[in-house]
Amino acid sequence: MLIDLTGKVAIVTGAARGIGRTIADRLLAEGVAVEAWDARWPDAAETGPSALRTGASAASSPHARSSDDGGELIPSVVDVTDGAAVARAVEAARERHGRVDILVNNAGITIEAPVEEMAEADWARVIDVNLTGVFTVCRAVAPLMREQAAGRIINASSFAAIIPSIGGAAYAASKAGVVSLTRVLASELGPWGVTVNAYAPGMVPSDINHFTERPAVEQAALLDTLSLRRWEEADDVADLVCFLASDQAKYITGSLIDVSGGKFATQRPHLAHRAATTAGPSGADRTASDGAPPLADAALSARLSATDPSTPA
Ligand SMILES: NC(=O)c1ccc[n+]([C@@H]2O[C@H](COP(=O)([O-])OP(=O)(O)OC[C@H]3O[C@@H](n4cnc5c(N)ncnc54)[C@H](O)[C@@H]3O)[C@@H](O)[C@H]2O)c1
Repeated sequence: MLIDLTGKVAIVTGAARGIGRTIADRLLAEGVAVEAWDARWPDAAETGPSALRTGASAASSPHARSSDDGGELIPSVVDVTDGAAVARAVEAARERHGRVDILVNNAGITIEAPVEEMAEADWARVIDVNLTGVFTVCRAVAPLMREQAAGRIINASSFAAIIPSIGGAAYAASKAGVVSLTRVLASELGPWGVTVNAYAPGMVPSDINHFTERPAVEQAALLDTLSLRRWEEADDVADLVCFLASDQAKYITGSLIDVSGGKFATQRPHLAHRAATTAGPSGADRTASDGAPPLADAALSARLSATDPSTPA
Protein backbone atom coordinates (compact mmCIF):
# COMPACT_ATOMS: atom_id res chain seq x y z
CA MET A 1 0.00 0.00 0.00
CA LEU A 2 1.63 3.21 -1.15
CA ILE A 3 0.47 6.55 0.15
CA ASP A 4 0.58 9.14 -2.64
CA LEU A 5 -0.17 12.75 -1.76
CA THR A 6 1.70 14.29 -4.70
CA GLY A 7 0.05 17.44 -6.04
CA LYS A 8 -2.39 17.83 -3.14
CA VAL A 9 -2.92 21.17 -1.39
CA ALA A 10 -2.90 21.41 2.41
CA ILE A 11 -3.40 24.00 5.11
CA VAL A 12 -1.55 23.28 8.37
CA THR A 13 -2.17 25.57 11.35
CA GLY A 14 0.48 26.13 14.02
CA ALA A 15 3.11 25.09 11.47
CA ALA A 16 6.06 27.19 12.68
CA ARG A 17 7.27 24.79 15.35
CA GLY A 18 6.67 21.53 17.19
CA ILE A 19 4.42 18.83 15.75
CA GLY A 20 2.86 21.23 13.23
CA ARG A 21 6.21 22.01 11.71
CA THR A 22 7.01 18.31 11.33
CA ILE A 23 3.58 17.66 9.77
CA ALA A 24 4.09 20.54 7.32
CA ASP A 25 7.59 19.29 6.43
CA ARG A 26 6.35 15.72 5.92
CA LEU A 27 3.53 16.87 3.63
CA LEU A 28 6.04 19.03 1.76
CA ALA A 29 8.33 16.02 1.30
CA GLU A 30 5.33 14.04 -0.02
CA GLY A 31 4.95 16.60 -2.84
CA VAL A 32 2.13 18.63 -1.26
CA ALA A 33 1.67 22.41 -1.61
CA VAL A 34 1.47 23.42 2.06
CA GLU A 35 -0.11 26.67 3.23
CA ALA A 36 1.71 26.86 6.56
CA TRP A 37 -0.03 29.14 9.06
CA ASP A 38 1.15 30.30 12.45
CA ALA A 39 0.38 33.22 14.72
CA ARG A 40 4.08 33.59 15.54
CA TRP A 41 6.99 32.69 13.28
CA PRO A 42 10.57 32.60 14.59
CA ASP A 43 12.58 35.65 13.56
CA ALA A 44 9.43 37.49 12.49
CA ALA A 45 10.89 40.51 14.28
CA GLU A 46 13.90 40.53 11.97
CA THR A 47 12.20 39.59 8.73
CA GLY A 48 9.11 41.69 9.44
CA PRO A 49 5.68 40.11 9.49
CA SER A 50 5.00 41.52 6.00
CA ALA A 51 7.59 39.10 4.60
CA LEU A 52 5.33 36.31 5.80
CA ARG A 53 1.93 37.69 4.97
CA THR A 54 -0.23 35.70 2.61
CA GLY A 55 0.42 36.79 -0.94
CA ALA A 56 3.26 37.01 -3.42
CA SER A 57 5.74 38.11 -0.74
CA ALA A 58 5.24 34.86 1.19
CA ALA A 59 7.34 32.89 -1.31
CA SER A 60 10.35 35.09 -0.54
CA SER A 61 10.09 34.55 3.21
CA PRO A 62 13.05 32.74 4.84
CA HIS A 63 10.57 30.08 5.98
CA ALA A 64 9.43 29.22 2.43
CA ARG A 65 10.70 25.81 1.30
CA SER A 66 10.28 23.46 -1.66
CA SER A 67 10.82 19.72 -2.18
CA ASP A 68 12.14 17.52 -4.97
CA ASP A 69 8.68 16.05 -5.49
CA GLY A 70 7.20 19.42 -6.48
CA GLY A 71 5.99 20.33 -2.99
CA GLU A 72 6.19 23.87 -1.71
CA LEU A 73 5.69 25.41 1.71
CA ILE A 74 4.15 28.87 1.79
CA PRO A 75 4.32 30.43 5.27
CA SER A 76 1.76 32.98 6.45
CA VAL A 77 1.03 34.76 9.69
CA VAL A 78 -2.48 33.57 10.52
CA ASP A 79 -3.93 33.55 14.02
CA VAL A 80 -6.72 30.97 14.10
CA THR A 81 -8.67 33.12 16.58
CA ASP A 82 -8.90 35.92 14.01
CA GLY A 83 -11.87 34.99 11.80
CA ALA A 84 -11.22 37.72 9.24
CA ALA A 85 -7.55 36.72 8.84
CA VAL A 86 -8.57 33.05 8.47
CA ALA A 87 -11.12 33.93 5.75
CA ARG A 88 -8.51 36.02 3.89
CA ALA A 89 -5.92 33.24 4.09
CA VAL A 90 -8.38 30.59 2.82
CA GLU A 91 -9.29 32.86 -0.07
CA ALA A 92 -5.59 33.40 -0.85
CA ALA A 93 -5.04 29.63 -0.85
CA ARG A 94 -7.99 29.18 -3.20
CA GLU A 95 -6.63 31.86 -5.56
CA ARG A 96 -3.16 30.32 -5.48
CA HIS A 97 -4.07 26.65 -5.94
CA GLY A 98 -7.76 26.52 -6.86
CA ARG A 99 -8.48 23.97 -4.11
CA VAL A 100 -7.69 22.74 -0.60
CA ASP A 101 -7.51 18.96 -0.22
CA ILE A 102 -6.21 18.63 3.34
CA LEU A 103 -6.76 20.75 6.45
CA VAL A 104 -4.71 19.96 9.55
CA ASN A 105 -5.94 21.92 12.58
CA ASN A 106 -2.82 21.57 14.72
CA ALA A 107 -2.46 24.99 16.42
CA GLY A 108 -2.88 24.68 20.17
CA ILE A 109 -1.87 26.08 23.55
CA THR A 110 -2.25 25.17 27.18
CA ILE A 111 -2.55 27.23 30.35
CA GLU A 112 -2.62 25.13 33.49
CA ALA A 113 -4.14 25.87 36.90
CA PRO A 114 -6.48 24.17 39.34
CA VAL A 115 -10.07 25.08 38.47
CA GLU A 116 -10.50 27.26 41.57
CA GLU A 117 -7.41 29.28 40.69
CA MET A 118 -7.95 29.57 36.95
CA ALA A 119 -8.47 33.11 35.66
CA GLU A 120 -11.50 33.47 33.40
CA ALA A 121 -9.31 35.06 30.71
CA ASP A 122 -6.96 32.05 30.72
CA TRP A 123 -9.87 29.61 30.44
CA ALA A 124 -11.30 31.65 27.56
CA ARG A 125 -7.95 31.88 25.77
CA VAL A 126 -7.42 28.09 25.78
CA ILE A 127 -10.96 27.44 24.52
CA ASP A 128 -10.57 30.21 21.97
CA VAL A 129 -7.40 28.84 20.37
CA ASN A 130 -7.94 25.09 20.77
CA LEU A 131 -11.66 24.75 20.12
CA THR A 132 -13.08 27.94 18.59
CA GLY A 133 -9.98 28.18 16.38
CA VAL A 134 -10.68 24.72 14.95
CA PHE A 135 -14.33 25.68 14.42
CA THR A 136 -13.35 28.96 12.67
CA VAL A 137 -10.94 27.31 10.25
CA CYS A 138 -13.27 24.36 9.54
CA ARG A 139 -16.14 26.76 8.84
CA ALA A 140 -13.99 28.72 6.37
CA VAL A 141 -12.64 25.65 4.53
CA ALA A 142 -15.77 23.44 4.50
CA PRO A 143 -17.58 25.25 1.64
CA LEU A 144 -14.52 24.76 -0.58
CA MET A 145 -14.34 21.05 0.21
CA ARG A 146 -18.08 20.66 -0.41
CA GLU A 147 -17.65 22.36 -3.81
CA GLN A 148 -14.82 19.94 -4.61
CA ALA A 149 -16.84 17.02 -3.25
CA ALA A 150 -13.60 15.88 -1.62
CA GLY A 151 -11.40 16.76 1.33
CA ARG A 152 -9.74 15.62 4.50
CA ILE A 153 -10.04 17.52 7.78
CA ILE A 154 -7.67 16.29 10.47
CA ASN A 155 -7.92 17.83 13.94
CA ALA A 156 -5.40 17.71 16.79
CA SER A 157 -7.20 16.54 19.90
CA SER A 158 -5.17 15.04 22.75
CA PHE A 159 -4.95 12.07 25.07
CA ALA A 160 -6.25 14.61 27.61
CA ALA A 161 -9.64 14.30 25.88
CA ILE A 162 -9.64 10.63 26.93
CA ILE A 163 -8.08 10.91 30.40
CA PRO A 164 -7.53 14.51 31.58
CA SER A 165 -4.81 15.69 33.93
CA ILE A 166 -5.15 17.65 37.16
CA GLY A 167 -4.65 21.34 36.39
CA GLY A 168 -5.57 20.83 32.76
CA ALA A 169 -9.34 21.41 32.86
CA ALA A 170 -9.40 24.08 30.15
CA TYR A 171 -7.07 22.12 27.88
CA ALA A 172 -8.93 18.83 28.36
CA ALA A 173 -12.32 20.49 27.86
CA SER A 174 -11.12 22.17 24.67
CA LYS A 175 -9.70 18.92 23.28
CA ALA A 176 -12.84 16.94 24.21
CA GLY A 177 -14.80 19.67 22.43
CA VAL A 178 -12.67 19.09 19.33
CA VAL A 179 -13.75 15.45 19.36
CA SER A 180 -17.46 16.36 19.39
CA LEU A 181 -16.96 19.04 16.74
CA THR A 182 -15.13 16.46 14.62
CA ARG A 183 -17.95 13.92 14.88
CA VAL A 184 -20.68 16.42 14.02
CA LEU A 185 -18.75 17.86 11.08
CA ALA A 186 -17.99 14.34 9.81
CA SER A 187 -21.71 13.71 9.46
CA GLU A 188 -22.46 17.15 8.04
CA LEU A 189 -19.79 16.79 5.33
CA GLY A 190 -20.22 13.04 4.77
CA PRO A 191 -22.65 13.52 1.84
CA TRP A 192 -19.86 15.31 -0.05
CA GLY A 193 -17.26 12.62 0.58
CA VAL A 194 -15.28 14.86 2.96
CA THR A 195 -13.83 12.99 5.95
CA VAL A 196 -13.22 14.59 9.34
CA ASN A 197 -11.11 12.90 12.00
CA ALA A 198 -9.27 13.77 15.20
CA TYR A 199 -6.15 12.25 16.70
CA ALA A 200 -4.92 12.02 20.26
CA PRO A 201 -1.14 12.21 20.73
CA GLY A 202 0.20 11.26 24.14
CA MET A 203 3.54 12.82 25.01
CA VAL A 204 5.64 14.50 22.33
CA PRO A 205 8.28 16.64 24.09
CA SER A 206 7.74 20.20 22.84
CA ASP A 207 7.39 23.84 23.91
CA ILE A 208 3.87 23.10 25.14
CA ASN A 209 4.97 20.59 27.81
CA HIS A 210 8.81 20.67 28.30
CA PHE A 211 8.65 16.95 29.20
CA THR A 212 12.36 16.29 28.69
CA GLU A 213 13.33 19.22 30.93
CA ARG A 214 11.56 17.73 33.98
CA PRO A 215 13.42 15.87 36.76
CA ALA A 216 14.48 12.34 35.73
CA VAL A 217 12.19 10.69 38.25
CA GLU A 218 9.19 12.57 36.87
CA GLN A 219 10.14 11.66 33.30
CA ALA A 220 10.39 7.99 34.30
CA ALA A 221 6.94 8.12 35.92
CA LEU A 222 5.47 9.59 32.75
CA LEU A 223 7.17 7.01 30.53
CA ASP A 224 5.88 4.28 32.85
CA THR A 225 2.33 5.03 31.63
CA LEU A 226 3.15 3.96 28.06
CA SER A 227 2.99 0.49 26.51
CA LEU A 228 5.77 1.53 24.11
CA ARG A 229 7.72 3.32 26.90
CA ARG A 230 9.48 5.98 24.83
CA TRP A 231 8.72 9.61 24.15
CA GLU A 232 6.49 10.08 21.16
CA GLU A 233 8.10 11.73 18.15
CA ALA A 234 6.40 14.37 16.04
CA ASP A 235 7.01 12.00 13.13
CA ASP A 236 4.75 9.40 14.79
CA VAL A 237 1.95 11.96 14.51
CA ALA A 238 2.96 13.02 10.98
CA ASP A 239 2.77 9.35 9.86
CA LEU A 240 -0.84 9.17 11.02
CA VAL A 241 -1.71 12.52 9.44
CA CYS A 242 -0.29 11.38 6.07
CA PHE A 243 -2.36 8.19 6.29
CA LEU A 244 -5.56 10.06 7.23
CA ALA A 245 -4.92 12.48 4.33
CA SER A 246 -4.52 9.63 1.85
CA ASP A 247 -7.00 7.81 -0.37
CA GLN A 248 -6.43 4.71 1.76
CA ALA A 249 -8.26 6.40 4.67
CA LYS A 250 -11.35 7.22 2.60
CA TYR A 251 -13.71 5.15 4.79
CA ILE A 252 -12.52 6.53 8.14
CA THR A 253 -14.50 9.48 9.45
CA GLY A 254 -15.76 10.87 12.74
CA SER A 255 -13.03 9.00 14.61
CA LEU A 256 -10.68 9.91 17.43
CA ILE A 257 -7.50 7.97 16.75
CA ASP A 258 -5.26 7.27 19.73
CA VAL A 259 -1.62 7.79 18.74
CA SER A 260 -0.24 7.81 22.26
CA GLY A 261 1.98 4.71 22.28
CA GLY A 262 -0.53 2.81 24.38
CA LYS A 263 -0.88 5.33 27.21
CA PHE A 264 -2.87 3.65 29.99
CA ALA A 265 -3.85 0.92 27.50
CA THR A 266 -3.50 -1.23 30.59
CA GLN A 267 -2.83 -0.48 34.22
CA ARG A 268 0.90 -0.45 35.00
CA PRO A 269 2.27 -1.20 31.51
CA HIS A 270 5.79 -0.60 32.92
CA LEU A 271 5.65 -4.03 34.57
CA ALA A 272 5.80 -5.63 31.14
CA HIS A 273 8.87 -3.53 30.36
CA ARG A 274 10.58 -4.55 33.57
CA ALA A 275 9.78 -8.18 32.84
CA ALA A 276 11.05 -7.83 29.27
CA THR A 277 14.29 -6.32 30.53
CA THR A 278 14.73 -9.27 32.85
CA ALA A 279 13.98 -11.71 30.01
CA GLY A 280 16.71 -10.17 27.83
CA PRO A 281 16.50 -8.94 24.26
CA SER A 282 15.28 -12.21 22.72
CA GLY A 283 12.56 -12.68 25.32
CA ALA A 284 13.04 -16.40 24.65
CA ASP A 285 12.05 -17.51 28.12
CA ARG A 286 8.73 -15.63 27.81
CA THR A 287 7.10 -18.28 25.63
CA ALA A 288 5.23 -20.95 27.54
CA SER A 289 6.18 -24.50 26.56
CA ASP A 290 2.57 -25.27 25.68
CA GLY A 291 2.47 -22.29 23.26
CA ALA A 292 0.28 -20.13 25.49
CA PRO A 293 0.68 -16.36 24.97
CA PRO A 294 3.52 -14.74 26.94
CA LEU A 295 1.34 -13.15 29.63
CA ALA A 296 -0.05 -16.59 30.54
CA ASP A 297 3.53 -17.74 31.15
CA ALA A 298 3.91 -18.75 34.78
CA ALA A 299 7.53 -17.58 34.91
CA LEU A 300 6.58 -14.13 33.67
CA SER A 301 3.67 -13.90 36.11
CA ALA A 302 6.02 -14.78 38.92
CA ARG A 303 8.49 -12.10 37.82
CA LEU A 304 5.70 -9.51 37.58
CA SER A 305 4.57 -10.36 41.08
CA ALA A 306 8.14 -10.15 42.31
CA THR A 307 8.62 -6.66 40.83
CA ASP A 308 5.34 -5.32 42.19
CA PRO A 309 3.81 -7.02 45.21
CA SER A 310 0.42 -5.46 44.44
CA THR A 311 0.17 -7.30 41.10
CA PRO A 312 -2.93 -9.51 41.20
CA ALA A 313 -2.31 -13.23 40.86
N1 LIG B 1 3.13 17.72 22.41
C1 LIG B 1 2.27 16.82 22.86
O1 LIG B 1 2.63 15.89 23.59
C2 LIG B 1 0.82 16.89 22.49
C3 LIG B 1 -0.05 15.92 23.02
C4 LIG B 1 -1.39 15.98 22.67
C5 LIG B 1 -1.86 16.96 21.81
N2 LIG B 1 -0.99 17.89 21.31
C6 LIG B 1 -1.53 18.92 20.42
O2 LIG B 1 -0.76 19.00 19.23
C7 LIG B 1 -0.73 20.35 18.77
C8 LIG B 1 0.71 20.81 18.60
O3 LIG B 1 1.37 20.76 19.85
P1 LIG B 1 2.94 21.02 20.01
O4 LIG B 1 3.38 20.16 21.12
O5 LIG B 1 3.64 20.93 18.71
O6 LIG B 1 2.93 22.53 20.55
P2 LIG B 1 3.93 23.74 20.23
O7 LIG B 1 3.69 24.75 21.29
O8 LIG B 1 5.32 23.25 20.03
O9 LIG B 1 3.40 24.30 18.83
C9 LIG B 1 2.14 24.92 18.71
C10 LIG B 1 2.17 25.89 17.54
O10 LIG B 1 0.87 26.51 17.44
C11 LIG B 1 1.05 27.90 17.25
N3 LIG B 1 -0.11 28.64 17.71
C12 LIG B 1 -0.50 28.86 19.00
N4 LIG B 1 -1.59 29.63 19.03
C13 LIG B 1 -1.92 29.89 17.74
C14 LIG B 1 -2.96 30.64 17.12
N5 LIG B 1 -3.86 31.30 17.85
N6 LIG B 1 -3.00 30.68 15.77
C15 LIG B 1 -2.07 30.05 15.03
N7 LIG B 1 -1.06 29.36 15.55
C16 LIG B 1 -0.97 29.27 16.90
C17 LIG B 1 2.31 28.24 18.05
O11 LIG B 1 2.89 29.48 17.63
C18 LIG B 1 3.18 27.04 17.76
O12 LIG B 1 3.96 27.23 16.60
C19 LIG B 1 -1.52 21.17 19.80
O13 LIG B 1 -2.85 21.32 19.37
C20 LIG B 1 -1.46 20.31 21.04
O14 LIG B 1 -2.53 20.54 21.92
C21 LIG B 1 0.34 17.88 21.64
